[in-house]
Amino acid sequence: MKKIVILFSGQGSNLEALARALLGRVEIVAITNNPNAGGIERAKALGIPVTIIDHRAFSSREEFDAALVGDIKRHAPDLVVLAGFMRLLSRVFTDAVANAINIHPSLLPLFKGKDGIGESFRSGMKVGGVTVHRVTEQMDSGEILAQVCVPILETDTRESYEARVHEAEHRLYPQVVARLLGLVG
Ligand code: GRF
Repeated sequence: MKKIVILFSGQGSNLEALARALLGRVEIVAITNNPNAGGIERAKALGIPVTIIDHRAFSSREEFDAALVGDIKRHAPDLVVLAGFMRLLSRVFTDAVANAINIHPSLLPLFKGKDGIGESFRSGMKVGGVTVHRVTEQMDSGEILAQVCVPILETDTRESYEARVHEAEHRLYPQVVARLLGLVG
């Protein structure tokens, strides 16, 4: 069975969507940098083992990345899937982990960085969206693998728009992971 490592820092809603779509067909393990991440309980409830590597225990980004790479290599995954992983990655990571993807809540290359949803919503554009891309050392800049549009309606609040963005993420990400792993559907 193919194996993925999911990296997350927050609520883990994408982790859950991936697990619900892929468990049984794909082995899933997870790593978080945040001991307080809501996604930890979520993962455990789904039967996904979680390793906590607290970035605050390391004195540099490179030292943290080396520990992260060590744990990823231990799992020998077919694909590394970033899902709300809120750490900038150095070349220590990108040189060692060739096959990693990320999901970002905007139509890249627009609105890179932490507030892709808010910047899309405030842009005046009539569509925002979601992008899955390869991870490189340039944040949110690797090759685009898949993209969907999410309309920004006159009637939307930031919250209603955000909810549709997350629904789009939860549909798109499992499809892309399945395709990259060579699974049907
Ligand atoms: C998602 O919007 C994802 O696109 C972004 O961070 C958020 C993570 O949410 N990179 P969750 O932790 O998966 O609920």
